[in-house]
Amino acid sequence: MPEVSDDPMGEPIYRHPYPSPDLAARHPFVVHDHQRVDDETMRTRAEVFRASADRRRSIRMFSPDPVPRDLIETAVAAASTAPSGAHKQPWTFVAVSDPTVKSRIRQAAEAEEHTNYLENRMNDEWQEALAPLGTDHHKEFLDVAPWLVVLFEQRYERRPDGSKRKNYYVKESTGIAAGLFVAAIHEMGLATLPHTPSPMAFLRTVLGRPDNERPFVMFPVGHPLPGVRVPDLARKALEEVLVVIDD
Ligand SMILES: Cc1cc2nc3c(=O)[nH]c(=O)nc-3n(C[C@H](O)[C@H](O)[C@H](O)COP(=O)(O)O)c2cc1C
Repeated sequence: MPEVSDDPMGEPIYRHPYPSPDLAARHPFVVHDHQRVDDETMRTRAEVFRASADRRRSIRMFSPDPVPRDLIETAVAAASTAPSGAHKQPWTFVAVSDPTVKSRIRQAAEAEEHTNYLENRMNDEWQEALAPLGTDHHKEFLDVAPWLVVLFEQRYERRPDGSKRKNYYVKESTGIAAGLFVAAIHEMGLATLPHTPSPMAFLRTVLGRPDNERPFVMFPVGHPLPGVRVPDLARKALEEVLVVIDD
């Protein structure tokens, strides 16, 4: 095992190194491929990423222009690098460009949203929160966007013998994968909208998914319609979302 020490005296920082010799004898480990960079380089990279993230917006009118399938595949591959509880990667992305299937999804989504918006399934507080966005039961973008990517969480796994094996921190893990997917789509120059036409159980039926999978969020993906407008939202200041406990 390589010496793990930053101490000039050569004293190890950790008295309980990971992996322990016993663990390393039982499971394979590799040396992490990491290139340390100086603070200025980190600052530059951090600011480039922050500024790019700040330009991301959810859009609700997509262009019908096609998007090559390999871009969707790369975004899913990036999303699937997400950390996950016990490395279970408890997610499935279903990418749909078939107009018939997209249309079925739109019809089912609009039916649920009709009940939400027009038949009082949403309480007043929820409606009030959504008012600045002006969303309603019309979901034309589900037909127009070239891709609908539906993310399912896997509540459990099936062993080859059919028995169930538990997954851990499924929502947290799938949420992180969703965030990486949104970032990947944005970084490549496309746009998306996290869409949750609640309840979303219809997605499992329409897409023929097994009973261990539950719809988590759906992402229409494409180019924004030229000139598309978005709500003029302000994001919380850093001081509102960060608490530092310094020495
Ligand atoms: C989990 C989740 C579910 C969302 N569901 C919907 C939705 O069903 N319909 C919709 O129009 N926007 C939906 N949104 C988008 C939010 O309204 C949007 O992210 C928010 O208004 C901030 O705007 P921005 O994404 O442009 O920063 C959802 C976002 C998240 C994270």
